[in-house]
Amino acid sequence: MAETTLDLQHLPRAQAYAQLLPQVRSVVEGCGDVIAGMASISCLVHHALGTLWTGFYRVVEPNLLRVGPYQGTLGCIDISFDRGVCGACARTQQAVIVPDVHAFPGHIACDSASRSEVVVPVFDAQGILRAVFDLDSTKPNDFSNVDVTGITPIVSSLAHLW
Ligand code: SME
Repeated sequence: MAETTLDLQHLPRAQAYAQLLPQVRSVVEGCGDVIAGMASISCLVHHALGTLWTGFYRVVEPNLLRVGPYQGTLGCIDISFDRGVCGACARTQQAVIVPDVHAFPGHIACDSASRSEVVVPVFDAQGILRAVFDLDSTKPNDFSNVDVTGITPIVSSLAHLW
């Protein structure tokens, strides 16, 4: 495999995602396993964007998320749908952008260095919610709709593997 992690922090996010998506697709297409796919996406996105925490929380019971493959500092293990930014994303099945984590009621601080966050829902090919993908940054206001638009096709590349 010729792929290596790219550092795309110097690029505007839209350009970073434009480079990242084909790389993710080529890695995930060949992997045939959802855990391998989640691990590879976490790695590629984490190194490309320089985020503090980058990874998946999986739906393991009707209202419960459990940590999946990730990169970064230690994440909490279980998050119920009624807690935190990840829970809000899972409950609403919509992306959640949090410019200032201190202003989000119920934000779960796994790492006190986190200042902003974006969480995107992850669906299988039948449209069932399987996970959420969480990015945390040490910079305030680091995420926008550009990130949601960029991350959505990245995590959709897993849809056929669930
Ligand atoms: N901040 C998240 C919890 C997960 S971690 O940041 C890794 C939340 O409020 O759901």
